[in-house]
Amino acid sequence: MADLLTTLQRLLQDEREVFGDFLVLERASVPPSRKTPSPEKGESQNLSGGNPVKPSTQERGGTPDRAGIELVVPASQEQDEVPDLFGVARAVPSITHEPWSTAPSLAELDAQINTCMKCPLGATRTKFVFGVGNPHASLMFVGEAPGADEDAQGEPFVGRAGQLLNKILEAISLRREDVYIANILKCRPPNNRTPFAEEVEHCLPYLRRQIALINPKLIVCLGLTAAQNLLGTTESLGRLRGRVLSFEGIPMMVTYHPAALLRNPNWKRPAWEDFKAVQQFLVDHSGDAGKEKPAHG
Ligand code: URA
Repeated sequence: MADLLTTLQRLLQDEREVFGDFLVLERASVPPSRKTPSPEKGESQNLSGGNPVKPSTQERGGTPDRAGIELVVPASQEQDEVPDLFGVARAVPSITHEPWSTAPSLAELDAQINTCMKCPLGATRTKFVFGVGNPHASLMFVGEAPGADEDAQGEPFVGRAGQLLNKILEAISLRREDVYIANILKCRPPNNRTPFAEEVEHCLPYLRRQIALINPKLIVCLGLTAAQNLLGTTESLGRLRGRVLSFEGIPMMVTYHPAALLRNPNWKRPAWEDFKAVQQFLVDHSGDAGKEKPAHG
């Protein structure tokens, strides 16, 4: 009997890891002091095709440089408040007054930051990997950091993971040139290790400026590192996938990193569901002001 209980507990734990614990979400409530109005652009919705769920916003901690997080609850949930699930996991970068922080274009931002030596990765990089794609893209992808191929070529997602990303884009009727692709870090960490907090702290403000200049309709985080650092959370991928979140008012979705899909083909099916949701989001928001409809076909 004890063995059976242990097995059941382990199964439940595994399931939570992958799918998140929706039951806990449904029961939890928000302290009134944490309620703030939702920004218009961050209008969030569930991904299951049901009625849009009224979004809720976590307070921003009084600093404009902090990642805003909105969490949309699963389709079945009828509440307009969500629990404070996300603890801030990283140091909040201080507001900078360096010239690049007001660079008026991507080209000028690139020119002003691509000699960066703020962290030790500056000394070991071959090329600074700024980002690539349509500067007016509706859809922006954020990965983790350049790998060996990217470091050599100065462009994100050009290795095997990038080839898979290109194929996925094709499958949802988008071309690489239609979207914008960047990473949390602009320089390659040795042996592709996970970025250190100090590296992220120096590099993330560049990405923030980049995002502000592109102003996409949707950001898709490729993998947990991108999601956790942009959202300032330690939540699992299982809890972050399948929802429309918000990065400073810009809708955000989270899916598997293409390199993870190469390692574990079982994740391709759920990843495909994520990308279909991305496609649907873009179709649903194609008429929104200020952005071109993404190219199809
Ligand atoms: N993995 C990433 O996260 N980014 C790249 O640019 C390449 C591989």
